[in-house]
Amino acid sequence: MQRAAVAWRQQGRRIGLVPTMGYLHDGHISLVREARKRVGPDGAVVLSLYVNPTQFGPTEDLSRYPRDLPRDFRLCREAGVDVVFLPSDAVMYPGRDQGAYSTYVVEERLSQGMEGVSRPTHFRGVTTVVAKLFNCVLPEVAIFGAKDWQQAAVIRRMTQDLNFPLKIVVSPTRRDTDGVALSSRNKYLNEDERRQATVLIESIRACREAVARRKMPAAQLRELVQQAVALRSSARLDYVEFFHPETLEVATSVARGHQMALAVFVGKTRLIDNGRL
Ligand code: PAJ
Repeated sequence: MQRAAVAWRQQGRRIGLVPTMGYLHDGHISLVREARKRVGPDGAVVLSLYVNPTQFGPTEDLSRYPRDLPRDFRLCREAGVDVVFLPSDAVMYPGRDQGAYSTYVVEERLSQGMEGVSRPTHFRGVTTVVAKLFNCVLPEVAIFGAKDWQQAAVIRRMTQDLNFPLKIVVSPTRRDTDGVALSSRNKYLNEDERRQATVLIESIRACREAVARRKMPAAQLRELVQQAVALRSSARLDYVEFFHPETLEVATSVARGHQMALAVFVGKTRLIDNGRL
């Protein structure tokens, strides 16, 4: 991968990277289109596909994370991806099984709240693997989805802090017709749970409406969300936060322009979503 990337750079070909864990959907493909737009018809669009073990907690879904390589390859071909980068564990974490692998990248501020509370080692895994992907693919631009708002903020911060010579682009969340954000993990939902999964986007819409005309205390909005979630038999709220969209600074008084993010268990599946109020 590095040899190809160096050669492309020598030829003056721009490189765009779309990091994914596979089981691709229209959300991922929209990032590919954005990458193509950024690098032009002669650029190289690389989609990395790697289910990164270090970003999963010990009790999480690493072993059963959905996979369908033949389908992913077909979607990549149709979307005009030039190269699918499919690194092995041995390439990404040499010697990890023997305890030899020992270098990680840690963002210490933006990664603390929200996902960082519920999944304490998650962002260390994300920043580490994304830094490594940057070093392997040498992109000029990397595309991330707004669906994982905090992840995008953490990666932006890391890119600045570590002087990675590339541009981070964040692309809008793609949704199903009922408003549910596309996610590889939607695959885990049964029919009834899939219906109940609308509670995330409905909560965002309710909060958006509530602050449309006046400020609201975060506690009051949180209660609104708790009530909406309580009405769905299979849903359980993990967290809901209101914050500044760039700094992620928590807001106690919430107004238009603030960002909202939430995580909800629907059955055993943990779903996240976010939106601008
Ligand atoms: P994954 O969940 O496969 O997502 C890959 C990229 O697709 C991320 O940037 C994510 O924000 C984006 N994405 C997911 N659902 C989306 C949607 N509905 N609309 C738009 N974009 C969407 O996020 C990861 O993988 C990993 O943490 C990764 C960054 C690859 C590091 O391992």
